Amino acid sequence: EQIEKGGFDHFMLKEIYEQPSAIQDTFRGRMLPKDAIIKMAGVEDNMKTFLNADRIIVVACGTSWHAGLVSEYIFENLARIPVEVEYASEFRYRNPVITDKDVVIAISQSGETADTLAAIKLAKSKGAFVFGVCNVVGSSIARETDAGAYTHAGPEIGVASTKAFTTQITVLTLIALRLARAKGTITSTEFRHHMIELELIPEKVKKALESDDYVRSIAEIYKDASNFLYLGRGYNFPVALEGALKLKEISYIHAEGYPAAEMKHGPIALIDENMPIVVIATRKGHYDKVVSNIEEIKSRSGKIIGIVTEGDTTVKKLADHVIEVPESLELLSPLLTTIPLQLLSYHIAVMLDKNVDQPRNLAKSVTVE
Ligand code: G6P
Repeated sequence: EQIEKGGFDHFMLKEIYEQPSAIQDTFRGRMLPKDAIIKMAGVEDNMKTFLNADRIIVVACGTSWHAGLVSEYIFENLARIPVEVEYASEFRYRNPVITDKDVVIAISQSGETADTLAAIKLAKSKGAFVFGVCNVVGSSIARETDAGAYTHAGPEIGVASTKAFTTQITVLTLIALRLARAKGTITSTEFRHHMIELELIPEKVKKALESDDYVRSIAEIYKDASNFLYLGRGYNFPVALEGALKLKEISYIHAEGYPAAEMKHGPIALIDENMPIVVIATRKGHYDKVVSNIEEIKSRSGKIIGIVTEGDTTVKKLADHVIEVPESLELLSPLLTTIPLQLLSYHIAVMLDKNVDQPRNLAKSVTVE
């Protein structure tokens, strides 16, 4: 097992560090910016179905559901297709309205999650076309779906999902870009620009990983907090949810993720000097509005950990700590802002002496209801 961990103390840390290459493996061979091509067999073969779809319904659980939420913003923005993101467990029992004009995208790292599998079977029985985004090749969901695209993240052993999340977002971005180009909702220049920016992401993830020691020092300060709040907006709202989930899963600290603007409708009541609040405040993502949220937190003595774009000065003046990530397109920023949140939960869990790779009560794949 020590050998499998490749010199890292835990699988989770190894998998966090594998993200630059995992993301690259996910787009390699599928995306050719020079030739302005994105090619994925499962999408090409079913292009007509995708283009005729009234909407996309994403079904997933856990971290995969968060990747689905990020993709909602991406699909709607780039390809102008309405998207609904559903917890598979709710969808399957809700008697949902599904027609043969719906495309269902099922996202699952393991490809074995019982609720997601059941949601797929239901959607198929109503005539919908079901597309899978799985990591495990040949898994039940990969076999049950009509077509799909693998994430190529490699085996993920840590129960808390890390590289599966970022590679899911990568695949979904490729699909959205391909559909956007086919629909003509983005220009060829924009198409190429997005690809070039995506190609730069692995190097930028490496750069984001350089904050590791600094993130560990922040973990040291807040490891004994009983609650955390995570805030983000737009593409980074689901990242806030995912950051909170990571902390809950492996350190057993209560954490909530919220869209930053919703803070005033509840969570603000919780803020005092004992509450660490992680705020994703990248420069392009509704920056000014998030900055005013940060001011509101500060005036209530909350402890602010800002996730900011390199070179930021405004948040630096307000926050107790800022963790920088490289600049990118706003749409791609979740691939970067996620990194320090994964590291923060990892270091806190290690400091609290928790079982990072196999947290209590959780399973890597949930094959029962
Ligand atoms: C479990 C795992 C999570 C995962 C979720 C969905 O809860 O512990 O890490 O996100 O299942 O799993 P899937 O394999 O369908 O992505």
